[in-house]
Amino acid sequence: MKKLSLIIIAAALCSACTKNYPVANYDIIPQPKEVKLSEEKSFVLSQKTVVYYEDGLQREAQFLSEYVDDILGFAMDVQAYQDQANGIVLKLDSEDFDQAEAYEINVTPKQVTIKGFDAAGVFYGIQTLRKSLPISQLTTLNSQLTLNSKLSTLNSQLPIGTIRDYPNFAYRGMHLDPCRHFMDLDSVKIYIDMLALHNMNQFHFHLSEDQGWRIEIKKYPELTEVGAWRSGTVIGHNGNLYDTIRHGGFYTQDELRDLVRYAAERHINIIPEIDLPGHMQAALATYPQLGCTGGPYEVWRRWGVSDDVLCAGNEEAMQFVEDVLNEVMDVFPSPYIHIGGDECPKVRWQQCPKCQAKIKELDLKADGRFTAEDYLQSYVMNRMAKVVEARGRRVIGWDEILEGNVSETAIIMSWRGTEGGIEAAQKGHDVIMTPSSHLYFDYYQSEDIANEPNCIGGYLPVERVYAFHPLPEELTPEQQRHIIGVQANIWTEYIASFRHVQYMAMPRMDALAELQWNNPEERDFDAFVERCRKMAQLYDLYHYNYAKHIFNPQAWTDTVVPNLATRKPITLREQPAEKYAFKGAVVLNDGELGRSAYNSGRWLGFSGTPLDAVIDMEQNATVTNVRFRALVKKGSWIYNPSQAKVLVSDDGTTFREVAQKSFPISGWADKDGIFTYELEFEPASARFVEVVINGHDLPEDHDGYGHPAWIFVDEIEVW
Ligand code: ACM
Ligand code: ZN
Repeated sequence: MKKLSLIIIAAALCSACTKNYPVANYDIIPQPKEVKLSEEKSFVLSQKTVVYYEDGLQREAQFLSEYVDDILGFAMDVQAYQDQANGIVLKLDSEDFDQAEAYEINVTPKQVTIKGFDAAGVFYGIQTLRKSLPISQLTTLNSQLTLNSKLSTLNSQLPIGTIRDYPNFAYRGMHLDPCRHFMDLDSVKIYIDMLALHNMNQFHFHLSEDQGWRIEIKKYPELTEVGAWRSGTVIGHNGNLYDTIRHGGFYTQDELRDLVRYAAERHINIIPEIDLPGHMQAALATYPQLGCTGGPYEVWRRWGVSDDVLCAGNEEAMQFVEDVLNEVMDVFPSPYIHIGGDECPKVRWQQCPKCQAKIKELDLKADGRFTAEDYLQSYVMNRMAKVVEARGRRVIGWDEILEGNVSETAIIMSWRGTEGGIEAAQKGHDVIMTPSSHLYFDYYQSEDIANEPNCIGGYLPVERVYAFHPLPEELTPEQQRHIIGVQANIWTEYIASFRHVQYMAMPRMDALAELQWNNPEERDFDAFVERCRKMAQLYDLYHYNYAKHIFNPQAWTDTVVPNLATRKPITLREQPAEKYAFKGAVVLNDGELGRSAYNSGRWLGFSGTPLDAVIDMEQNATVTNVRFRALVKKGSWIYNPSQAKVLVSDDGTTFREVAQKSFPISGWADKDGIFTYELEFEPASARFVEVVINGHDLPEDHDGYGHPAWIFVDEIEVW
């Protein structure tokens, strides 16, 4: 049965292919900046095509041959360049381009030239050609067969024309955390392949954490004997249950050197991160004398931010970090070394005689903006920055390092929103934008949480990634030049397997690739999705796992039955909270329903002010019923409404109340969820309907007692 269907497909393809080979399509991700096509006949890519390379481009030529083999089923011959060669020619021409990594592909009937400013440019030209190749059923079938049994090779046509392209951002990164859950070396190599496919050039490798130390350090061998292993892991979201499965792993320096080579071949730099002075509990578990209390400590089995950090007043702890950084720099030639700096609680330092003595010795003082302990962290970070800079490298730190007196040369990674990045760029720091609001790929990508793998929370669909503008308008053009790059992060507290990493990465990574390479002013999401479909064929070919929500949008848009209010003019007398205002009043009658993610753009959120909406039905109607949906999520301070009123008007000026209803506050024993509230009344003739919804105050048994509760409403219906 299987054999028969293979033959039918092969036959169908072959009858079609004598003259009409499948045609490449240059609409890919990231979209090339300039594509000029002519109507002439095409270049035929076949088994006879030879790849010629100029000096220094042999590896690139091999890559091209390998990619064509993956997709079309034949490897091309690779030869040093000869004059007038027909085939695909790879060459360098820095004169013809304004910037590094730029490339041009010129396709004529006899020859394809891929020309780059540098080898990286040629490599991106090759990526573009690779992503343009037609992927057919035959490709997919071939990929499942062994070399000897491949069905046939598949010629294809490349349309005649010229593509010229270059990246907008010099730094195009993705991060991976193999500390919360260890990812083996082969998986990390596949991750690097994924980056290369998306024209990314920086891999931020987060190598130390409270929950595991992942890099061999020769001077401190116990770090990986002890610090790389935890005895169990908390179950779920930091409850009191733990499994007792030993978890861990680490990379030897030899393995990491091999990884550096592997990435460099793909024009990717690996940026190692040693996160300090916080997130160090695995190191403290190994060497308790490096902490303020002396321990004992365990390699942490929970998630979150540990209070136990390196003792900043202990010279041995400082020497430890210097030694570690020096070995890290021996292994990684990266021009950037990441030294963390995020989420470092100061509670131990406040109590620690050594830390307090250091504060005295350095004459550090609180000044209203920052505490003496904040300045102590700056002292640690700046001291380590000197160690890094002494070897001709630059430090990167998370945006917390702005709290104090950070070294001017430090590059700031803005993760708690874009504000840190804005402040840093204004102060003259170089900045990498990686705000959790748009680029944390450990967040949910669908509102349909019940059908998603468990994750850390949040809601970050592809649309939101695609809508991110990395250059804040608050900055002058001069300051904007300090935004050197864009990056997404994948933290793995709730991601235990590499398949799951891939699922979280793609296709959000496609949206990221567009921002990094093109940062387009105008964005067309539908066209982007079509280009993603082509990438998805490659993902299937390479057996990459990826999320498919955007290819099937109907499956996750819930709508209301159209009613008298649907998509009619609507105004708000009171504004929602800025953070939850989204498109404004129209969210309330656009017919689209939200799910449990209240920051999805489908809900409006109010705190301390009522929702007061006026709907103009545009003609007189008889109304008898108003319904609305509200969210209850008590842990997030979101409660049911306390009261709702309906008023009607003929002229939009004088309103008359027709219904009012009160709702008792939801208790802890009541379920959270989405609830519909309904007000029925005597038939009333009206053109305008006003709906006023008030919130409760948080009750005494709530952490937020003393504050108003939030109300979130997604849709108002009038019948
Ligand atoms: C971070 O997410 N703690 C940088
Ligand atoms: Zn201390």
